Amino acid sequence: MDKIFTVRLSDDKNAVEIIDQTLLPNEIKFLRLETPEAVFEAIKELRVRGAPAIGIAAGFGMYVCAKKLSEDNFYGELNKLGNYLVSSRPTAVNLAHAVERMLSAAKGADKKLALALLYEESTKIYDEDKQMCRKISEYGLTLVKDGDGILTHCNAGALAASEYGTGLGTLLLGKEKGYNFHVFSDETRPLLQGARLTSFELNHAGIDVTLICDNAASLLMSQGKIDACFVGCDRVAANGDTANKIGTRSVAINAKFHNIPFYVFCPSSTIDFNCESGEKIVIEERGGDEIKTKFFEKPIAEAEVKCFNPAFDVTPAELITAIVTEKGICRYPYTSSLKKLFG
Ligand code: MRU
Repeated sequence: MDKIFTVRLSDDKNAVEIIDQTLLPNEIKFLRLETPEAVFEAIKELRVRGAPAIGIAAGFGMYVCAKKLSEDNFYGELNKLGNYLVSSRPTAVNLAHAVERMLSAAKGADKKLALALLYEESTKIYDEDKQMCRKISEYGLTLVKDGDGILTHCNAGALAASEYGTGLGTLLLGKEKGYNFHVFSDETRPLLQGARLTSFELNHAGIDVTLICDNAASLLMSQGKIDACFVGCDRVAANGDTANKIGTRSVAINAKFHNIPFYVFCPSSTIDFNCESGEKIVIEERGGDEIKTKFFEKPIAEAEVKCFNPAFDVTPAELITAIVTEKGICRYPYTSSLKKLFG
């Protein structure tokens, strides 16, 4: 198998390179994204997905595409490019954060200098993510013990970030250190990130993984097979309310009922201190075809049946046992604990 990477800048620095996650686990194909439209499409269609990974893709995308902008109105066009990329997906704040960082790095510079600054900033976003994922994983390991049963939802592994990932980072690092976890991966309807991506990643890392339907999680909890739930996140509001893949909220409610710790793994790039609470988080809605037809030989409902397909939900802060960040572990109430860590 080719060496897997999620997202990176090409050697010639003229393209964002990604693995096309829509084809996994059946086909491993890498893509070169060289235009704003190609980067936008790849993010929108989830060829590259996961909050940190789309932030990294947007950073590299802005650098690559900025080379073709006119010298005269360079910063104006860069702004337009940034707004365009941000509009590809609304919920993960990493995307907007990465674009903001790129814009402020280039502010006031002429095109030549701006390009050098944009290159520097985009690689910084990437390198920082690697370091944050590693630190988060180290903190995560303090919360579990060898042999634990872990339930995870969606994919918060290396495919969602630069390396290690967030929610799965603890499991991948733990494996390197000799821990044997038993992971239960929710398939994660409708786009099946748990089945297609998480079970693929963990299986290749040699971690014991069992794929379950989303609605089997509660039974497993009642049977005592789950010691902790691990999820990533797309936006954490200042009060700790957390947006993540649709279905995460049900996992948290179930975990509370069964007295099982529910942990959110969160790099600081995913915290939105400008967003007071979960009510303010915009939830992406996607097409009904993803529910009715995408993964089926024949449609599973009649064409005229309406669908509602929100891509994320918000887990209230009080259901979250801890938020694990690169700077340490925060506990409820998060308004004060997050502020204390991040100032
Ligand atoms: O729609 P997706 O696949 O981009 O959703 C991703 C998730 O919900 C992840 O759990 C989240 O981005 C955390 S990734 C470290």
